[in-house]
This record gives sequence, C-alpha cells and structure tokens, in this order.
Amino acid sequence: MAHIWPIGGGKGGSGKSFLASSLGRLLAKSGKQTLLIDLDLGAANLHTMVDVPYPEKCFSDFVTKKIPNLENAILETPFPNLFLISGAHDSLDIANLPYEQKIKTLQAIGKLKYDYIILDLGAGTAFNTIDFFLASHNGIFITTPEPTSIENVYRLMRAIYLRRIRHFFSANDFKALGRKVKEHLGDDSRHQPENIVPIIKKEFPEKYALIKKDFNAFCFKLVLNQVRKQDNAALGEQICKFIKKHLGINVDFAGNISYDEHVHDAICQRVCFLDRYPHTRAANDLRVLNRTMSNAFGEQMMLNYL
Ligand SMILES: Nc1ncnc2c1ncn2[C@@H]1O[C@H](COP(=O)(O)OP(=O)(O)OP(=O)(O)O)[C@@H](O)[C@H]1O
Ligand SMILES: [Mg+2]
Repeated sequence: MAHIWPIGGGKGGSGKSFLASSLGRLLAKSGKQTLLIDLDLGAANLHTMVDVPYPEKCFSDFVTKKIPNLENAILETPFPNLFLISGAHDSLDIANLPYEQKIKTLQAIGKLKYDYIILDLGAGTAFNTIDFFLASHNGIFITTPEPTSIENVYRLMRAIYLRRIRHFFSANDFKALGRKVKEHLGDDSRHQPENIVPIIKKEFPEKYALIKKDFNAFCFKLVLNQVRKQDNAALGEQICKFIKKHLGINVDFAGNISYDEHVHDAICQRVCFLDRYPHTRAANDLRVLNRTMSNAFGEQMMLNYL
C-alpha cells in the first residue's frame, strides 16, 4: 500500500502546493512511483507547479462518474515517476463533497498502486480538508512564521482533533458529553479542547483511553515555510510544544524552508523550483525535509475507510 502524505495548512498561501509538488518531485527523482492529488477542490492549481498546463481530465470526472475509476483521472507529468490527479476543472459545488463521496474517494485512493501519494489540501477547516487529512496517520501541517498563519494552522489542528474525538462517540454519548461540558464550563469554554479533554477523562474514561491510544498512533509533522534570517530559530519547536500542551497531541517539528525569491520566479516561469534553482538554500531545505519525512514516517495506515 502507498505511503499517503496529506498536506494541510490553515491559511491560503502558506505553501501547501509548493511543498506537495517539491516532495513529489524529490520522491519521483529517487525512483519512487509518486502520485500528487490536488484536493484543494474549487481552487486547484497544483498542475501549474508540475508543468501540466491544460489537464484534460480531473478529479471531478471521477466524482461525476464521467470516468469509471480514479485511475482514469491520472495524468503524466514531464517528470519521470511523477503523476498527477488534477482538480483544475472542478466546479465550485465539488468543494463540498458529501461524506459518502469522500469515503468512496478515500477507498479509491487506498487502492492506487503507488509508492507515495501526496494530497494537496485546501486552506481552512472545511470537513473535506479534515477528512482527507485524516486519511493517513502521516499528515503534514505547514505554516509560515506569521502569527496569522500559525493561528490558522492551530485552528486546523484543533478542528481535526475535535472531529476525531467525535468519531469515538455515538450521537447520544456526544450529546451527553455536550451537557457535561456545559455543566463544567458553561457556554463559553465549550470549544476549547484543552478543557474538554479532562472532562472526557473524568466522565468517559474508556473513551478517553481509546482516544489517547488513537492519537498516539498518529505521526503528525509540522513544517515552517518562508522562514527569513531574522525569524526566531526555535519557533517550530515552540509551536509543537504549545500544541502538546493545549491539545495533548504529538506533532513533530520536521524543519524549516527558507524564504527565497526564486520560488516566486520558478512559479512565474512555470518550471519546477528544484530543477531550476537546485543550489539555493530553500532547495537544500526541501531535500533535507524529504529525507526527514521518508525516514520518520513508518508503515502506512489508512484510518477507518478501508
Ligand atoms: N519558501 C518560499 N519562499 C518564497 N516564497 C514562497 C515560498 N513558499 C511559497 N512561496 C510563495 O507563496 C505562494 C503560495 O504558495 P502555495 O501556492 O504553495 O500556497 P498554498 O498554501 O498552496 O496556497 P492555497 O491555499 O491558496 O492553495 C507561492 O506562489 C510562492 O510565491
Ligand atoms: Mg495550494
């Protein structure tokens, strides 16, 4: 089964597509059969970063049953071993996939025969983004050092965490949890997970044990992108500590990608940054990151859907 790396970030422009295309290029270059899937539904642009100017088929053709299998939506890129499922022609209504359609998509992704599958997700905390992020234990979060971007990536992590907790409760139990939370905290603190978790631990100890075990199996990573010389070198580690303290989940800091004007230049020229500017600091950062990810992520596990 393929290693699946979903890439999510709370804010638009944090570098999800740049990281997805760069990791894809590096894995493909090392001989791994690699598939990029653009799941930024409604705002897809990954094709441009891997030099596929006019995708003649795309993800929505699978959703609308224009093509029978997800395999039929796969496009070649100019790079050996690198393939793409584009979202370029997806209409806006596809941005809100019904849950059954998501499950069908995740099952279809799980059957694709690749070494690595990288999912480029949309910004924000839409259910699509969360559910696709949870398709694998090996999710990668990306943010820039700007407080607005960090705030949004934290919001995404929190939304993922709460959605996953919901998974362990029946509708009735979840209502009961809501009542307990209200009893303990009043209305205001309802959405603060750091306050909800102790209540689950006290009132639903068996579920707490299951949730804890579940989250221990995740191997989340955080990447800091567009890091400038003057930025705090310890920021990535500090964010991970903050997440551990407030959400109780482990997110490992995977590394920085330097800010580099050449990224903009490469995108404007519609060429792959790593091929055009291989000797820049950012290119080196990406190669180091790719090695870190490849070594750190263990056996691939799909959650629930298969
Ligand atoms: N390391 C970097 N150095 C300089 N500029 C960068 C870097 N990474 C990304 N950028 C710039 O940020 C822009 C946004 O990157 P990208 O499209 O990957 O973000 P995104 O998170 O996918 O955004 P969206 O949510 O809108 O899809 C790029 O067009 C590029 O100009
Ligand atoms: Mg993008």
